[in-house]
Amino acid sequence: GPHTLDDTLGRPLRDLRISVTDRCNFRCVYCMPKEIFGRDFVFLPKDQLLSFEEITRVARIAAAQGAEKIRLTGGEPLLRRGIENLVAGLAELRTPDGLPLDLAMTTNGSVLARKAGALKAAGLSRVTVSLDSVDDATFRRMNDVDYPVATVLEAIEAAAAVGLGPVKVNMVVKRGMNDGGILAMARHFRNTGHIVRFIEYMDVGSTNGWNLEQVVPSADVVRRIDAVLPLEPLAPRYAGETATRFRYRDGGGEIGMISSVTQAFCHGCTRARLSTDGKLFTCLFGTAGTDLRALLRGGADDDELAGVLAGVWRRRSDRYSELRSAETAGVDPRSGSAPAGTGAPPAAGWPGRKVEMHYIGG
Ligand code: GTP
Ligand code: 5AD
Ligand code: SF4
Ligand code: SF4
Repeated sequence: GPHTLDDTLGRPLRDLRISVTDRCNFRCVYCMPKEIFGRDFVFLPKDQLLSFEEITRVARIAAAQGAEKIRLTGGEPLLRRGIENLVAGLAELRTPDGLPLDLAMTTNGSVLARKAGALKAAGLSRVTVSLDSVDDATFRRMNDVDYPVATVLEAIEAAAAVGLGPVKVNMVVKRGMNDGGILAMARHFRNTGHIVRFIEYMDVGSTNGWNLEQVVPSADVVRRIDAVLPLEPLAPRYAGETATRFRYRDGGGEIGMISSVTQAFCHGCTRARLSTDGKLFTCLFGTAGTDLRALLRGGADDDELAGVLAGVWRRRSDRYSELRSAETAGVDPRSGSAPAGTGAPPAAGWPGRKVEMHYIGG
């Protein structure tokens, strides 16, 4: 259409994922391991964060170029003071066709129950809650700050009650940590209207010590659930959807599989990311972003910003997960003897350190 901006692989810009803070009150073992994100870890100082005005300005420009969905992430987005004011500003943005944007948030749910009403009132469309186990002991081990699961379960209900549903519940499956709780997770959310998505543990960042042996392929997850609660596949809801969808044959609802390791979905990837300090990344596995903050604070006008955004997107060729899948294809993740090199990102094209997920936004 007249508004589409395509990259070198023909993918339009449709989503903008914004990390509003690099801080988090959890230390999930696969994301912010305590050994690295300890007491003396230095997070970004306030003046380096994009202000709400700066974020809204970038979002407005992205919306003019085809972005229809905005997701606020982090870190933990609800730790950013006054976040509902940012939501209110973003809720006023329109697509070139005059439609409001789909405005979502990914949160760990720890303080969501308290803020759900204000977020809904400010114009948030929906929330996705990260929850790695419904078993309290396992959940406390995964978040590594001894946070109880009951609070998060209550938050999910609170969010649905104020109209922020259907709530998506994201479970990152890490072999040996929480994979024993896959069926319990499915059972807990069956018949609730909430949608659980099982996520393959990914090699994002450089600190989580990712190894292919710790990944449980989605096909196995589907098999484990289907054996007890029969499933059937559903068609994608939209092109480039991250999750492949299934429904319980008895009408108990929907679940999803996010298989970025075993079935990469780069071919349909329409996602741009804005880091906490205003760098634009065109892939979750980027090593360097484009510094929009320097432009914002250097007096660039909207046309100039739009030109930079469009230029970056038009040159985009990212497909990291597909390349890594090609490299690890044929490796049996359960064998425990993956050939050397399969635990690392592809060498070609990744000379630098990959950025961390809490900084770039999940
Ligand atoms: P909706 O379909 O709009 O609800 O969003 P979504 O499917 O993008 O879901 P969400 O934003 O909750 O993302 C879920 C998880 O998918 C993230 O936490 C990541 O683990 C993974 N993910 C999302 N986007 C990407 C991506 O572009 N690349 C890769 N490799 N993984 C992604
Ligand atoms: N692999 C897969 N998903 C991850 N997330 C964070 N780190 C990883 C990883 N290594 C997910 C969280 C949350 C979102 C912010 O990203 O579980 O749902
Ligand atoms: Fe925090 Fe989410 Fe990372 Fe866990 S996955 S440490 S909740 S940002
Ligand atoms: Fe998109 Fe990069 Fe993820 Fe592929 S690896 S789906 S290109 S963000």
